[in-house]
Amino acid sequence: MVKITLHSPRGTYVQEVPLQSNLVVLAGLKKFPGLRYSCGIGRCGKCASRVLTGGEHLPPPNWKEERVLGAERLAEGYRLLCQINVMADLEVEQDPVPITPAWRQVNPRV
Ligand code: FES
Repeated sequence: MVKITLHSPRGTYVQEVPLQSNLVVLAGLKKFPGLRYSCGIGRCGKCASRVLTGGEHLPPPNWKEERVLGAERLAEGYRLLCQINVMADLEVEQDPVPITPAWRQVNPRV
């Protein structure tokens, strides 16, 4: 089990979850309340969260995260929670307003 701390606009949630859990999947199963998400496939950016602690245990961002978050947000420590499985204790924070995906800023009509 690993300890997850989520700071979201709806409050702070601390929960123990099984190793390699995906937090968006758990949220879909109503087991991780307060987590904002939508598509679950790395496209919308609603699950974007800034990693406060534990980021060193995550794999590098995948191409979906690079496309949605862009270089600037990645450098600031943002990750897409639907694209990662937790491997250690993790503390993340969601902004009050969902991000606009970087790909949409490049192609505003899409
Ligand atoms: S839920 Fe849409 S990008 Fe993660």
